[in-house]
Amino acid sequence: MSTTNLETIVSLCKRRGFIYQGSEVYGGLSGTWDYGPHGVTLKKNIMNLWWKTFVEDRDDMYGVDAAILMNQKVWQASGHATGFNDPLVECSHCHGRFREDKIDTSKCPTCGTKDSFGPAKQFNMMFKTNVGPLADEESISYLRPETAQGIFTNYKNVVDSFSPDLPFGIAQQGKAFRNEISPRDFVFRSREFEQMEIEYFVDPDNWEAEFEKWVSYIADFLDKLGLPKDSIHNLEVEEADRAHYSKRTIDVEFDFPHGRDELLGLAYRTDFDLMNIQNNSGKKMDYRMKDGSKTFVPHVIEPSFGVERAIMAVLTSAYTEDEVNGEKREYLKLPEHLAPVRFAVSPLVKNKPELVEKAKEVYQALKKKYGNVMWDDNGNIGKRYRRQDEIGTPYCVVVDFQTLEDDTVTIRDRDTTEQKRQSIDSLVKS
Ligand code: GAP
Repeated sequence: MSTTNLETIVSLCKRRGFIYQGSEVYGGLSGTWDYGPHGVTLKKNIMNLWWKTFVEDRDDMYGVDAAILMNQKVWQASGHATGFNDPLVECSHCHGRFREDKIDTSKCPTCGTKDSFGPAKQFNMMFKTNVGPLADEESISYLRPETAQGIFTNYKNVVDSFSPDLPFGIAQQGKAFRNEISPRDFVFRSREFEQMEIEYFVDPDNWEAEFEKWVSYIADFLDKLGLPKDSIHNLEVEEADRAHYSKRTIDVEFDFPHGRDELLGLAYRTDFDLMNIQNNSGKKMDYRMKDGSKTFVPHVIEPSFGVERAIMAVLTSAYTEDEVNGEKREYLKLPEHLAPVRFAVSPLVKNKPELVEKAKEVYQALKKKYGNVMWDDNGNIGKRYRRQDEIGTPYCVVVDFQTLEDDTVTIRDRDTTEQKRQSIDSLVKS
């Protein structure tokens, strides 16, 4: 269990422009969250790191970006239309509705009535909609509950266009939607969230070796996110708890503020999905080895990351409290490559035009080089440092009177709070 309190993270996220309640101005919409300026940058940094690691830096990976709305046959074939259910119970006294496996059903968590729950009903978590002007059976579609199906339905397209050597993977990032009965724990269980998924197509004779490789690729990636190893736990999921399509699953769990819980999943999905597509579409999904040795429907290893949970794990790991000059300080010790702001630049004081002008020059030069550089001249210097600490900015650059004489600036390190002088030239060129 993390020692960081969830409320502390939620309030820092709101205060510093990372994450806000969705539709907050109208009282909110449960299970939805909006990303503010720093949140969207942190999220993009995480997603770009994932894309670079698993797609750009590898030769066996192909990216796709499929439509969120898909033919309803996709969800019938995949089993989601009938089987993507959570057990729903309703209190006969207050009519509160809950996920059966998340509460003690002997007493209603809302009104306290004892033994007020009847048997659970299966509640399908897909958001249903109609495509086009007619609301009939034919026009039914769903907001996708996983990005994976957009990969499976494009498997044949990628094979035909690129003739990849097997094993190979198809990767996708994008929104997924689940009508969760009880969204909870900040962004951890949301109704609209983002996934980063890979379907890695393998020879069924080799699935075990490929699965093990993915266990270690995932560990390396979590290291790049700056998550401490001792907060990560690989849980071998028992058959009874696995999704209907999986023959082996590892849930990678993390010590979140609310407790140890699933960060991401790694599943051996066999040929379940491609066979379903083949049987329902009548189109062959088989793969012929380049040496002609065999032809088969590939099996699949699926590493499935949730972006919101990655963000929560990164924020939990980065959140630090210490004492500076006898005062409590809160800051985000974010890895430099994930921090939404890399440098914050300010003049020592705002009322000296020559300092402001010089500071703007430094700001423009750094912005040109790094992009994620912030101008911050609000409040006194101490307040700026505290604000930037909470954003997780690794370096604050201050232009002072000495700068005008020797073109050096003060650089203050977030983690040590130490300040040193450095020439503008070396800073911009480093
Ligand atoms: N394609 C496989 C799949 O979707 P899953 O275990 O249902 O598997 C994968 O979801 C990941 O998506 C989870 O490990 C989690 O990171 C994220 N996820 C699932 N439901 C979520 C929710 N309601 N809110 C936020 N993230 C969620």
